[in-house]
Amino acid sequence: MHAAGGGIVVPNDLASRASKGARDFDEMCTTCHGAPGKERSEIGVGLNPQPPKLEDVGPTWSPSEMFLIVNNGIRMTGMPVFGPTHDDERLWSIKAFAGGLLRMDPDAYAKTLEAAEPDDASDQYPHHYEGAHSHGSGYHHQDK
Ligand code: HEC
Repeated sequence: MHAAGGGIVVPNDLASRASKGARDFDEMCTTCHGAPGKERSEIGVGLNPQPPKLEDVGPTWSPSEMFLIVNNGIRMTGMPVFGPTHDDERLWSIKAFAGGLLRMDPDAYAKTLEAAEPDDASDQYPHHYEGAHSHGSGYHHQDK
């Protein structure tokens, strides 16, 4: 057994993953948090407490802290739980991208997004949410 704090292991290739997280970030986070050159949507503006701009607060969180926030959400706020719907690899990539926001102006943000790796999530990140499906039982080929 390990006594590591929460068992979070920060991948050591975090920096190189940023481009993988760009599209996910744009789709999953900017509604509420905005981004350089992007205002929050009405949903984001209407939340209380208000979601902070991640380019401002992002650097105050360590990689594993931010991973936990995105994985678990923040209770009693609008911050959603992404853990059940996104595997760790994917969440780390989003975190990697979010960590770089500080250095981005709107132009850089748009360019990064354009250059980002395509969002063929189903190939890149095999799903393994066994709980969500019933495997086998009850499924029969229709051979009539
Ligand atoms: C539905 C709205 C919503 C979405 C989508 C959302 N968040 Fe949040 N998030 C919030 C709210 C609201 C808070 C503020 C909670 C508070 O003030 O305690 C928050 C807080 C955070 C914080 C802590 C910031 C701080 O210093 O207080 C981080 C980090 C964060 N979100 C990252 C993300 C990332 C990364 C994504 C995309 C994967 C994301 N959020 C998507 C609503 C959202």
